[in-house]
Amino acid sequence: MATGYFFPHRHVLGIDQLSPDDITHILNTADSFKEISARPIKKVPTLRGHTIINLFFEPSTRTRLSFEVAAKRMSADTFNISPSTSSTTKGETLIDTARNISAMHPDIIIIRHSFSGAPHLLAKYVNASVINAGDGAHEHPSQGLLDMMTVKEHKGRLHDLKVAIVGDIMHSRVAHSGIEGFTKMGSSVHVYGPSTLVPKGLEQLGAVVESSLPDAVRDADVVMTLRIQKERQNDPLLPSFREYARHFGISKKILALAKPDALVMHPGPVNRGIEMSPDVADCSQSVILNQVTNGVAVRMALLYLVMGNS
Ligand code: CP
Repeated sequence: MATGYFFPHRHVLGIDQLSPDDITHILNTADSFKEISARPIKKVPTLRGHTIINLFFEPSTRTRLSFEVAAKRMSADTFNISPSTSSTTKGETLIDTARNISAMHPDIIIIRHSFSGAPHLLAKYVNASVINAGDGAHEHPSQGLLDMMTVKEHKGRLHDLKVAIVGDIMHSRVAHSGIEGFTKMGSSVHVYGPSTLVPKGLEQLGAVVESSLPDAVRDADVVMTLRIQKERQNDPLLPSFREYARHFGISKKILALAKPDALVMHPGPVNRGIEMSPDVADCSQSVILNQVTNGVAVRMALLYLVMGNS
C-alpha cells in the first residue's frame, strides 16, 4: 500500500466499491482494534460524542449486535430501530424515514434491508455515513471483510488461496461480497450449489463455477457454506432439505477432499445437518466463532474509518 494512504469512503455500501488497498487498510485497522475486546475494560474514547443508528429491517443476531458492541466499545451513543416498532408499519417510506432520522443529526446509519440497493438509496438522502449491513441478495460488506480477516489470520495471506463457497449462491449477499473480496485480493473462488441456486454470470465476477461438490472442495484452503435463504425464495427451488443435505451438505468425508488444514467457515446462522454436519461445524478446522469475534473488530474499524472521512 502506498504511504500516505487515506481511506477515501464516506459510506461502506459494498466490497465492489473497495480497492485492494482499502481492504488491506480496513483489515490492518481491525487488527489494531481487536485487542480492545480482550482487555478487562473494553472501552476506548475514540467515537465519544458520535451518534450511531442501527436500522435493521430484517432479523439479525451477529451483525446488529456486533455493530452495537463495536460502537459501544468506542464510546459512541447507539440507538436501534426495528421495523415492527417504527412508523414504517404505518406506511412511511424508507426515504421519509431516512429524512426524519437525518433531521436528528446522526453520524452513522447502519442499515439492513431486504431490498437490494436500500443502503445506496439511503446514502443519497442523509448527511450521515451509511454502512450496508446486508441488502437483499446483493452485498454484506462487513461480513466479507470479517471473513477475509479470519482467513488472513489463519493463513497469513489473502492471495493464492482456493476458497470454495457452497450453497445458495443466488440469494446470498455473503457469497457476492466474498467473491468480490477474495478475488480482488488474489485468491481463486470456486462456487457450487443446486443449479437453481447458482446464477448466471458469476464468471464475470471472477468466480469459477464448479459442476460437482468434490471438484469445488478438492484441495481447497477454505470451505465456506451458506445458509439456504428460504425468505428470498418465492417458489421452492429445492426438492427437500434432506436431499439438499445429501448432495450439497459438507460432511467429514467431503471435507477430507480439501487440504488437511482447510478452514471451515459459515456466516451463520448455521442450519446444522443441512448445510454442514454437526461434526464439521464443531471440528478443529472450524473458525465459525472466530468469524464472529472478528466481526466486532472489523465493525470497529469501519465505524472509525468512515468517521475519519466525514
Ligand atoms: N452473518 C449474519 O449476517 O448473521 P446475522 O443475520 O445474525 O446478522
